[in-house]
Amino acid sequence: MPQITFATSLDPDHQNSVTVSKAVGTKVLASALQAKTHIRYGCSAARCGTCAIEVTSGQLSEMKSQEKILLKKMKILNGHKIRLACQARLTEEDVAINLGFQKTYNPADSEDDHDTIFYH
Ligand code: FES
Repeated sequence: MPQITFATSLDPDHQNSVTVSKAVGTKVLASALQAKTHIRYGCSAARCGTCAIEVTSGQLSEMKSQEKILLKKMKILNGHKIRLACQARLTEEDVAINLGFQKTYNPADSEDDHDTIFYH
């Protein structure tokens, strides 16, 4: 079972990081919520862009076109380094996620309508 670690870039020593083991195929957003992280998200459907996160190590599932289009509209498409937590799924590989990335972009840069943003 792969491990997923959530940390913030504002916490360089990762003292506030949390690591959980989840089944292959589990979405990053579901993992973050179950780990009780402070992840920002909204629509859960690749429409609002509020859940973008930075993958600092490891590999998540292949990016589908809807995710790629939204990240491109938001001007934060960067290979597989930036992902939508509501779309990306765990593979067999351990991954590390930087939630601090969420403080570095504005979901309003997307041209789509936005759903309500929730903070967990
Ligand atoms: S929560 Fe809206 S795009 Fe992921």
